[in-house]
Amino acid sequence: MTTVSNPPGAATRATPTLVLEDVPAAPVRSYKAVYVYEVPVRLWHWINALCITVLAVTGYFIGSPLPTQPGEASANFLMGYIRFFHFAAAYVFAIGFVGRIYWAFVGNHHARQLFRFPFWNGHWWREVWTEARWYLFLEARPKKYVGHNPLAQLAMFWAIGVGSAFMIVTGFALYGEGAQAGSWQDRLFGWVIPLFGQSQDVHTWHHLGMWVIILFVIVHIYAAVREDIMSRQSIISTMVSGVRTFKDDASE
Ligand code: HEM
Ligand code: HEM
Repeated sequence: MTTVSNPPGAATRATPTLVLEDVPAAPVRSYKAVYVYEVPVRLWHWINALCITVLAVTGYFIGSPLPTQPGEASANFLMGYIRFFHFAAAYVFAIGFVGRIYWAFVGNHHARQLFRFPFWNGHWWREVWTEARWYLFLEARPKKYVGHNPLAQLAMFWAIGVGSAFMIVTGFALYGEGAQAGSWQDRLFGWVIPLFGQSQDVHTWHHLGMWVIILFVIVHIYAAVREDIMSRQSIISTMVSGVRTFKDDASE
C-alpha cells in the first residue's frame, strides 16, 4: 500500500489536503516566441481561404452545370445563385488581394514573403531542396524557420501570389463580357480575351487555374498539419495568434 504523507505546512491547516503551493515546482523552460503574422495577414488568410472554397465550388458548377432541374424553367434560378455567389466571393477575393498587396508594403518582413521569389539566391534554393527532402522523409531533422520555410514560400508565391492575380485578371475579363462594352471591367480587362484568343480560351485557363489552386490547397493543408506535429515550431496556431513558438532552443 502506498502512503501519501502531507508536506510540511499542510499539517498546520484545518484540513490537511494537498494544495498547489505544496507541490514542488517543476523546472520551467521558456522557449523563444516570435510575433510573425500581423493581424491583417491572418485575417486575410482565413477570409481568402473561405473565398477560395466558395469560388472553387461555384466555379466547378459553372464549368459543369447540373444536367437538369425539376419544374418550369422560369421557376428555377439555381445557376443564377451559383454565379451570384461566385461573383460575390470574387469581389471579396479581389479586394482582399489588393489589401494584401498594400500590407506587403507597410507590414513586417514576413508580410512580403508571399510576393518574393529569390530566384538568384543559391542559399535559398539549397534550403528549398533540404525542405523537399524533409517532406519526403529523407532528412532526419527539420530546420527552424521564423517565417515561411523556403519550399512553402515557393509554392505560395506561384499558386497564390501569381495564381490569385491570374484568376482575378481572367475572371474580370470574363465578367466584362456580361457587364458589356464600356463597363469598368471591360475597360480594364477587355484586352485579356483577344490576348488568349477568344472567350472559351479564357474560360479554359481560368478553369485550369482553379485546379492549380486546389492542388496547392490540398498539399498546403497536409503540410500545415504534418509540420504542426513533426516540425520544431508551432504552425497552425501561428496563423491564428500570429506567434511562432519553438519546441526546443537549439540554434541548428
Ligand atoms: C483555401 C484554403 C487555403 C489557402 C488558399 C491558403 C493559403 C495560404 C497562404 C497564401 C499562406 C501565406 C500567408 C501569407 O504569407 O500571407 C498561408 C499560410 C498558412 N496557412 Fe493557409 N491557406 C488555406 C487554408 C489553410 C488551412 C485550412 C490551414 C490550417 C490547417 C492553413 C494553415 C496555414 C498556416 C499554418 C500558414 C502559415 C504557415 C507558416 O507557419 O509559415 N491554411 N496559407
Ligand atoms: C480562386 C479564384 C477563382 C476560382 C477557383 C474560379 C473558378 C472558376 C471556374 C472553374 C469557372 C468555370 C470556367 C469554365 O469552365 O467555363 C469560373 C467561371 C467564371 N469566373 Fe471564376 N474563379 C475564381 C475567381 C474569379 C474572379 C476573381 C472573378 C472575377 C469576377 C471570376 C469570374 C468568373 C466569371 C465571370 C466566370 C464565367 C461565368 C459564366 O460563364 O457563367 N472568377 N470560375
